[in-house]
Amino acid sequence: MAKIAGNLALKCLHILVLYVYVTSVVLAARVLPVHPYLQSNEKPISNIFDTSKYGILQIKNGLADTPQMGWNSWNFFACNINETVIKETADALISTGLAKLGYIYVNIDDCWSGTKRNSKGQLVHDPKTFPSGIKALADYVHSKGLKLGIYSDAGVFTCQVRAGSLYHEYDDAALFASWGVDYLKYDNCFNLGIKPEKRYPPMRDALNASGRAIFYSICEWGEDDPALWAGKVGNSWRTTEDINDTWASMTAIADINDKWAPYAGPGGWNDPDMLEVGNGGMTYLEYRAHFSIWALMKAPLLVGCDVRNMTAETFEILSNEEVIAVNQDRLGVQGRKVYVYGNDNCYQIWAGPMSGNRLTVALWNRCSKPATITAKWDALGLDSSITVSVRDLWKHKFVSANSVGSFSANVDSHSCEMYIFTPQTETASFGH
Ligand SMILES: *[C@@H]1O[C@H](CO)[C@@H](O)[C@H](O)[C@H]1NC(C)=O
Ligand SMILES: *[C@@H]1O[C@H](CO)[C@@H](O)[C@H](O)[C@H]1NC(C)=O
Ligand SMILES: *[C@@H]1O[C@H](CO)[C@@H](O)[C@H](O)[C@H]1NC(C)=O
Ligand SMILES: *[C@@H]1O[C@H](CO)[C@@H](O)[C@H](O)[C@H]1NC(C)=O
Repeated sequence: MAKIAGNLALKCLHILVLYVYVTSVVLAARVLPVHPYLQSNEKPISNIFDTSKYGILQIKNGLADTPQMGWNSWNFFACNINETVIKETADALISTGLAKLGYIYVNIDDCWSGTKRNSKGQLVHDPKTFPSGIKALADYVHSKGLKLGIYSDAGVFTCQVRAGSLYHEYDDAALFASWGVDYLKYDNCFNLGIKPEKRYPPMRDALNASGRAIFYSICEWGEDDPALWAGKVGNSWRTTEDINDTWASMTAIADINDKWAPYAGPGGWNDPDMLEVGNGGMTYLEYRAHFSIWALMKAPLLVGCDVRNMTAETFEILSNEEVIAVNQDRLGVQGRKVYVYGNDNCYQIWAGPMSGNRLTVALWNRCSKPATITAKWDALGLDSSITVSVRDLWKHKFVSANSVGSFSANVDSHSCEMYIFTPQTETASFGH
């Protein structure tokens, strides 16, 4: 009986692997629309991508050309925040050099406000923890060349039971604008069971009416498949529940976010939640994988650790300019999981096209042992004869000048190696 079950399981696995293989071949053969951000002389070397469902800069607030980068207080501090921590974080973003690399949003999450509105019906800062008020904090953050983000909720209360913005959208947006706020994360607690498609657009319109360009980050936890409608509403939308500082949570969230890849693009991004890099629940290699895949998926890069006190390893990961450049590439196409094999599909190849005819490729080993992972050209949507140079974005060097047909590397357990493939010649065959 056990043997039969085992054979059956093996058979299912074979069918699954075959299915994934066939799917990738079919994908490789599809003729995809020309990407509007490509110059007329550019042809993508890979035809794996599909951006037919995305719209460019749909909400037209001039923001989110590339995914947002910065910091958010929640993952490390939760409710234990105050104006000192926010100011010291702004200072640290400058002194560490992270701001120069693009991390410019300093985002306050829940707990900045009081439990009730004031007598004029306005939101107010918590007088104990933010005694100087948000305007003063915005001025401080701006004086450093950074931007300030704030938090509210499309419900009657925030998740930590402070006053929410439902039915107060215009007043609250005008108040945020008057303080000089640059970014709003808009959460989903105490929502009275009203659909997010009804609750999120009024704040878009209110932010627009405020006259200030305010990045609009929708956080309805992926409940109503926001990729399908939020491109017209916000600059990014959460696709999943909250991330945890664990390997299991990070990998699960990456897979959910992956499903919505064709809907991301300049102006509106899928958001698999903020980074946990540096918070202690994963290993160095797991955090490297987390950062690599978030960058490749064109996810917001919002640091979630205490940047006043980072280890050298944490800083090394967050400051990898070559990986950041993948995230901020002007083509703005979300990379995807393109091929999987091995036990539980734990050998994974993720890839996405980049500007300049390049391709970014990640070899991710989700197995419990080191392994050699091979990316074959057909899985990457590459013509079999194409020759590429391969640059390793973690070793910071070229590891191959002329790979053809496939590329392999040894990958540690739970590690993710990341590369840029550049075609050797402009005339390299480009076929469908
Ligand atoms: C408001 O929306 C209009 C139309 O989409 C756009 O042109 C304008 O730039 C927006 N203003 C702000 C402040 O977001
Ligand atoms: C501000 O918050 C930080 C982090 O939770 C804490 O260490 C510090 O004591 C707080 N400072 C004040 C003045 O409350
Ligand atoms: C994260 O942890 C909480 C409990 O602390 C749990 O309810 C939630 O399901 C976890 N999320 C994931 C994605 O593992
Ligand atoms: C800095 O981080 C280390 C762990 O990396 C921790 O042990 C230490 O308490 C932290 N220091 C402060 C001041 O938060």
